[in-house]
Amino acid sequence: MIEYPQFFDLICRRYSCRRYDNASVSREMLMAIMETARYAQSACNKQPWKFLVIDEPELKEVVYKSYDRDWIRDAGAFVVALGNKNEAWSRGYDGRNSMDIDIAIACENICLATATLGLGACWIGNFDIVPLKEGLSIPEEWEPVAIISIGYPKDPHEQPEKKRKNIDEVVKWGKF
Ligand SMILES: Cc1cc2nc3c(=O)[nH]c(=O)nc-3n(C[C@H](O)[C@H](O)[C@H](O)COP(=O)(O)O)c2cc1C
Repeated sequence: MIEYPQFFDLICRRYSCRRYDNASVSREMLMAIMETARYAQSACNKQPWKFLVIDEPELKEVVYKSYDRDWIRDAGAFVVALGNKNEAWSRGYDGRNSMDIDIAIACENICLATATLGLGACWIGNFDIVPLKEGLSIPEEWEPVAIISIGYPKDPHEQPEKKRKNIDEVVKWGKF
């Protein structure tokens, strides 16, 4: 059983890694990471997701086209997380669809899992979906929600300072 101190340590150790050493990540490790996405919770257990794991050079080019930054070229692999609103649960009161939330939970599992394996990851949201959908043959109803870069950190000891709001700015006891 993992205890709070280890869990909190993991939460603090995870950071957005944007410097990789250009080494490939084994498919075994990638599958171990993806198992943590598969086990994520989702509203009504709908699991409205699919994950494209990209580790081949020609498909990596598609990712570069959709998020054109030098630093991602050294990542070993990418996960493109797709969600389908038609498969996700919607709240009866107001129709709010939970697809984004479900995908986010699975993606966070991926990011945390990489940190336990000595890998780095960065959640990427600022990508162009047009080249991604076309280059990866993603059907209309599947929406790319996130790209996660995964790789070996160039500096395995990198631990950037966490810039976060103070706890009393974000947590209130009781009423707003
Ligand atoms: C929904 C979402 C979208 C993000 N999009 C990007 C992005 O497009 N590019 C990037 O470099 N980082 C992106 N990030 C990473 C954030 O910038 C990062 O999590 C935040 O600055 C906190 O830093 P930390 O992850 O190192 O703790 C994204 C994170 C989230 C959760």
